Amino acid sequence: MDVVSADLTDAAQISVVEERLRTDESIEVLINNAGGGLFTPLATSDAAASEALINLNVTSLTRLTTAVLPGLTARGRGTVVNISSALALNILPVSAVYSGTKSYVLTFTQALQQELAESPVVVQAVLPGAVRTEFWDGSGADLGAFPDEWIMSADEVVDAALAGLDAGEPVTIPSLPQISDWESFEKARQTLVPNLSLRVPADRYRG
Ligand SMILES: NC(=O)c1ccc[n+]([C@@H]2O[C@H](COP(=O)([O-])OP(=O)(O)OC[C@H]3O[C@@H](n4cnc5c(N)ncnc54)[C@H](OP(=O)(O)O)[C@@H]3O)[C@@H](O)[C@H]2O)c1
Repeated sequence: MDVVSADLTDAAQISVVEERLRTDESIEVLINNAGGGLFTPLATSDAAASEALINLNVTSLTRLTTAVLPGLTARGRGTVVNISSALALNILPVSAVYSGTKSYVLTFTQALQQELAESPVVVQAVLPGAVRTEFWDGSGADLGAFPDEWIMSADEVVDAALAGLDAGEPVTIPSLPQISDWESFEKARQTLVPNLSLRVPADRYRG
């Protein structure tokens, strides 16, 4: 196994990884897992820490996906797995930046799925709930304060994500008992679409 280690928030280091993704024709899978968390009210947050989080969770994921995609589509096979979070949907007072980044990962993935609709290349978004990892250390939130039944092991998240991928799920939410609940949510979003851009404002906005 060939390991390339890089700080993905460092322009010079991520460019080495991007070059590898662009040129190594043996690459078939990109798992965008690297990410961090920050759970503090925005009014008391450090703007530089927020920027660093956006850089890791959003910018690096976008750059790496952009780098790998031309090769995957040209070779006609491959998979990109983007690790989002349940907090893309469960939006909290302390999660303005984190939920924002993970909502980006979700919508970025959904747009890419449309772009690749005719391609054999598969893109999956995974939305884990709380997972027992080092992610929580220094994040501003205490995993120990969560009930045990809210917390999944990393192994179980990975197994569920892979099972979701095998089942062809575009979006995998490991703890969600019924995938039809997600599908209903998506359907509700789709029902908005025909009315999201019209020549005239809605009646309630007109005097
Ligand atoms: N834990 C949760 O409750 C939870 C829930 C939902 C979603 N997620 C998401 O799951 C993903 C994995 O998190 P985790 O729970 O496994 O957390 P973790 O144990 O803290 O692992 C974070 C991973 O990101 C890498 N990373 C962090 N900063 C990096 C940087 N600047 N450059 C390159 N790699 C960097 C780390 O690499 P090193 O080990 O080399 O530092 C590590 O592999 C993240 O995207 C997170 O948002 C986590």
